[in-house]
Amino acid sequence: MEIRKVGVAGCGLMGSGISQVAAVAGFSTVVLEASQELLDKGLASIGRSLSKFVEKGELSAEQKSQALGCLLPTLTREEFADCDLVIEAIVENLERKKQLFRELDRLVKPEALLASNTSSCSITELMTATRRPARFLGLHFFNPVPLMRLVEVVKTVATDPEVVQLGLDFARRLGKTPILTTDRAGFIVNRLLIPYLMDAVRAFEEGFGTIEDIDQGMKLGCNHPMGPFALMDFIGIDTTYSIAEILFNEYREKRFAPPPLLKRMFLAGMYGRKTGKGFYDYADPRNPKANKRL
Ligand code: 3HC
Repeated sequence: MEIRKVGVAGCGLMGSGISQVAAVAGFSTVVLEASQELLDKGLASIGRSLSKFVEKGELSAEQKSQALGCLLPTLTREEFADCDLVIEAIVENLERKKQLFRELDRLVKPEALLASNTSSCSITELMTATRRPARFLGLHFFNPVPLMRLVEVVKTVATDPEVVQLGLDFARRLGKTPILTTDRAGFIVNRLLIPYLMDAVRAFEEGFGTIEDIDQGMKLGCNHPMGPFALMDFIGIDTTYSIAEILFNEYREKRFAPPPLLKRMFLAGMYGRKTGKGFYDYADPRNPKANKRL
């Protein structure tokens, strides 16, 4: 089987990025959203991101328009029917994802692969909503998808080895480097990243340093592109909090537990860049870097 036509359910931050890289790689890409407004927003962000690549000389204007031509935006799930692979990238809510997969399983041709971009739900549990366990896998992309080179390919105990191979090859065709992992909460990257981020909040709460100094420490001392607080704002405090809760519930180890400050920020709606306020204030004109949004 060859993957030619791809479907992406959800055109938010992750879905738009996945659609973009699939279209740039030349796949016909059906992009589904729940409303025209959300679809327009996602497509606009793809347009802006592609323009950045053109400005930097990494894509030609022609490649940009070819990629845009590969996108097939829709509000109708039936458009996924003849896709060879459908990747789910909707909100991190287990029940909503299972409901979507139940429908996709009914709508999409039986030999097609179904995949989830979830960062924290169990791939095995999502798989149980379908009647195609052997053709179900996780494809976990990283934010911002057009720039981040990694894809975690997640196999369950039921995933067919041929499907695993198709997942690895698909990631390579997008220009990404895949790594293979099994279905455990957090997979490889969040299993290691979340304790680090939670520990940064604890270090701040315990008075080790200011948010700025802790971020500088990890940027300049370890060459990380962003310090842990800037990264949490970037991922979203809501997303970070929810992943940490899920990992804590799975492993019952303190290192995964969201500290009180993170919980309060979540409750207060301080989600980071997306709401304009998190550990940093993105409306602060004295902080142009923090203000910078694509
Ligand atoms: N598309 C195209 N170009 C983009 C872009 C996008 N979506 N986002 C940023 N860029 C460009 C910017 O325009 C800028 O271009 P320029 O150099 O020509 O000005 C360039 O990338 C660098 O961006 P910035 O100057 O705004 O900022 P940085 O130099 O800090 O780079 C970054 C941004 C690439 C996001 C970098 O900070 C980084 O790699 N940060 C870490 C990201 C990370 O760890 N992501 C993983 C999060 S965890 C995750 O996703 C898993 C999930 O399960 C939680």
